[in-house]
This record gives sequence, C-alpha cells and structure tokens, in this order.
Amino acid sequence: MTSMEDLRKPILPGKGASDYERYLRTDELLSLQKLPQECLHADELTFQVVHQASELLLKGVAWELERARNHIGDGDFSNAARLMRRATEMLDHPIYLLHVLETITPYDYHLIRAGLGHGSGLDSPGFLALLHIGPRLGESFYTQLHAANLSLDDLYRRHEKFFGLHDVAERLLDFDERVHLFRFHHLKLAERIIGGGVVGTMGTPVEVLHQRMEHLFYKELWDVRNRITAKANDVLQKDGGGHS
Ligand code: HEM
Repeated sequence: MTSMEDLRKPILPGKGASDYERYLRTDELLSLQKLPQECLHADELTFQVVHQASELLLKGVAWELERARNHIGDGDFSNAARLMRRATEMLDHPIYLLHVLETITPYDYHLIRAGLGHGSGLDSPGFLALLHIGPRLGESFYTQLHAANLSLDDLYRRHEKFFGLHDVAERLLDFDERVHLFRFHHLKLAERIIGGGVVGTMGTPVEVLHQRMEHLFYKELWDVRNRITAKANDVLQKDGGGHS
C-alpha cells in the first residue's frame, strides 16, 4: 500500500518540489514577469499579468475553435457546438480582464508605457489566432450548409429539423459577439487611459480601433434576422394588426 508520505513525493519529471508545480511548470510561469526592482511602476505587475493571462486564454480559445472546426467538417455538430461554447466562455475572461486595467491611472500608465518599446496589441499572437480561425470556421459551416442544400434562411426557418447545424450557427454568432465586445471594451480602455485622439505605441491612431470594431466575421448571420423580422412583419400586416 502507498503511504501518505509516498503520495507527497513527486513522480513527474521536471523542476519543482511537487507534481503540481512540475505539471504546471509554475517555476517557469511565475518567472515570466519583471522582478519588483525592474518594474517602472508598482502597477506594472498587474499590467503584465493581465496581458500574459489574456494571451494564455486566447491561445485556449483558438485551440478549441480549431477542434470545433474539425468537428464541423466531420458533421459532428453536437461536439462542435460544445467546444464553441467552451471557447466563448473562455473568451469572456480576457474581456473581463480589460476592466482590471481600468484601475490604472493615466499618469501611472505613462510610466509603464515608457518601457513598452514598439510593443502593440496589433501583434498579439492570441488575438491574431482568433482573426485566423474566425473566417475558416465560417467556411466549414457554409460548406455543411451547402451540402445540406440549405440557404441560411432555410436553416433558420427549419431550425427544429436542422437543430445541430442551427446550434453551430448560433455559436458562431456568440463568438462574433465576443470578439466585438472585446474590441468595444478595449477601445473604451484605450480611450480612458491614453485618450481617443492620440497615436498608439506602433503609430496607429486610437481612432483605428474604432474602425476595427465595425468588423464582423459572420455578417450574414446577423442579416438573416432582418429578413426573419421583415417576413414576420409582412404576416402581421396581412393579418391586419400589431406593432413591429
Ligand atoms: C492600458 C491598457 C491598454 C492600452 C492603453 C491599449 C492600447 C492599444 C492601442 C492604442 C492599440 C492600437 C494599436 C497600437 O498602436 O498599439 C491597441 C491595439 C490592440 N490591443 Fe491594446 N491596449 C491595452 C491593453 C490591452 C490588453 C490587456 C490586451 C489583451 C490582449 C490588448 C490587446 C490589443 C489588441 C488585440 C489590439 C489590436 C486590436 C484590433 O485588431 O482591433 N490591449 N491597444
């Protein structure tokens, strides 16, 4: 029988006194931040931790969406929708973390900013991975839609019969909405910390963030609702009643 003492001994390879530390590689993970004496301001640790945590979470989001894309290709819509739900749950956290940085004051931020070089969120590997997977996920969905000989309008009208594919469409919309929310809250953060009328660390005006917010991955999925409402209004008018 294994004794309690044996159970406390690490059995995994790697650095760290316990298997917890070895598995999570906490040694390396927790040494990826500036040392206190290297920080330009005491708020810098929070600034760095929020960015690093966001990159990790965005990596997880992109990974799950890649897996979902494979499931869509295999026609396994239940598992695709399950993983897309997981991805959007995960994406809520980088959005939430933006609010943590709203607690840095504009003056203090400029001390931190002085050490960022040309560093810019435009080069965020995590966000770029989302921009890469977004359109490809949409393509997989449309391939299946065409294979089922359906238009988007058909899919939404016959949602009960095509529940699985309809569920995937709604999860795509969740993802699109989250990316939009990330951009919205990020823009507000930039506006309140450095202002909306200035130029960022890579020479991009903050105004560009406004324009990028217009971007949607799946515009057709938003548009189909206009047609559904227009049709419903037609029916109401024919029946002679109701406000739209
Ligand atoms: C004090 C906090 C922050 C400020 C003042 C700020 C400011 C900016 C600015 C001015 C830009 C425009 C490009 C440039 O010239 O740099 C930008 C882009 C970007 N930032 Fe931030 N940022 C902050 C925090 C974050 C955080 C926590 C993330 C999380 C990963 C992030 C991710 C991004 C992304 C992904 C872009 C490109 C946006 C797009 O493509 O729409 N930023 N940021």
